[in-house]
Amino acid sequence: MEAPWIIILLMYASPLLLVEAGYFNGRPGLNELAISSEIAPTRACSVIGNIDTLLQCFAACMKRFRRFYMFGRNSATLMCFCCKDPPQFPLPGTVFNTYIAPPCPLIYSEYTYGYLNICLRFVSNLMTYPMASSVCQQDGGDLVRLDSQRKFDIFQEFVANSTNATVAVWLQGIWDNSTWFYHDGTPLEFTCMIGESNVTSEARMVAKSGNHSGCFGAQSGMLNMFVCEIYRVFSGF
Ligand SMILES: *[C@@H]1O[C@H](CO)[C@@H](O)[C@H](O)[C@H]1NC(C)=O
Ligand SMILES: *[C@@H]1O[C@H](CO)[C@@H](O)[C@H](O)[C@H]1NC(C)=O
Ligand SMILES: *[C@@H]1O[C@H](CO)[C@@H](O)[C@H](O)[C@H]1NC(C)=O
Ligand SMILES: *[C@@H]1O[C@H](CO)[C@@H](O)[C@H](O)[C@H]1NC(C)=O
Ligand SMILES: *[C@@H]1O[C@H](CO)[C@@H](O)[C@H](O)[C@H]1NC(C)=O
Repeated sequence: MEAPWIIILLMYASPLLLVEAGYFNGRPGLNELAISSEIAPTRACSVIGNIDTLLQCFAACMKRFRRFYMFGRNSATLMCFCCKDPPQFPLPGTVFNTYIAPPCPLIYSEYTYGYLNICLRFVSNLMTYPMASSVCQQDGGDLVRLDSQRKFDIFQEFVANSTNATVAVWLQGIWDNSTWFYHDGTPLEFTCMIGESNVTSEARMVAKSGNHSGCFGAQSGMLNMFVCEIYRVFSGF
């Protein structure tokens, strides 16, 4: 085992960022850049050749991809890889060091979600949609994004575990041009809507907890509890 070392990481992004990072070697702690993992890279990972250090590998992935969940380097072939797509068959080669994003922040709970992990936080303070979104974004995430039945199931159980009351909870959804969109501008991939509303002012999405659960549109100025979500991934530029 190598000892942890402190490095200055220069990322070629715009604007140029100088980040001092505590690199680390497997033990969770504070402010880690990444933690070593046992996960093997697959053919779905993008390969970049001739990378001298793990750190340069990380910087190369950051520069190339907006989001990736794992990176690593084969110290024999100097091959660096960045993994952002669902895993496939294993990548040949034996000397891989792989690294994943640090665990969820303390106030979040972590859940397995496909090949990625997600972090959820229930906030019982009543806020408007823009305020709630901003709180989640300050954490490095956003309002929860319901993109599958599985995510909806986790979300519902998470809310039920967080409060016994029947509550309305903000989640990501903006009604525009007769379509519901996530914040990144893509249309919803999954809907928990129970009936569409024709009231155009009810253009933000809430979910109601409890036995008659489901989602509906509400005015953005309404005060609701909310659930924040962070994907356990690296975010480049
Ligand atoms: C809800 O609580 C139960 C019992 O503690 C636990 O088994 C389950 O994993 C929790 N679910 C979520 C989504 O947190
Ligand atoms: C819900 O109610 C049960 C039983 O009264 C209690 O044990 C549990 O702590 C409550 N959960 C929350 C989140 O309030
Ligand atoms: C609204 O949606 C329709 C059909 O999906 C599309 O053709 C149109 O360009 C959209 N308008 C705007 C302003 O986005
Ligand atoms: C939406 O408006 C149309 C036309 O006024 C009406 O026929 C339809 O029933 C309305 N839908 C809902 C869900 O209120
Ligand atoms: C859901 O239904 C069950 C059984 O009908 C009931 O005991 C429970 O209190 C209900 N929960 C809520 C949140 O309404």
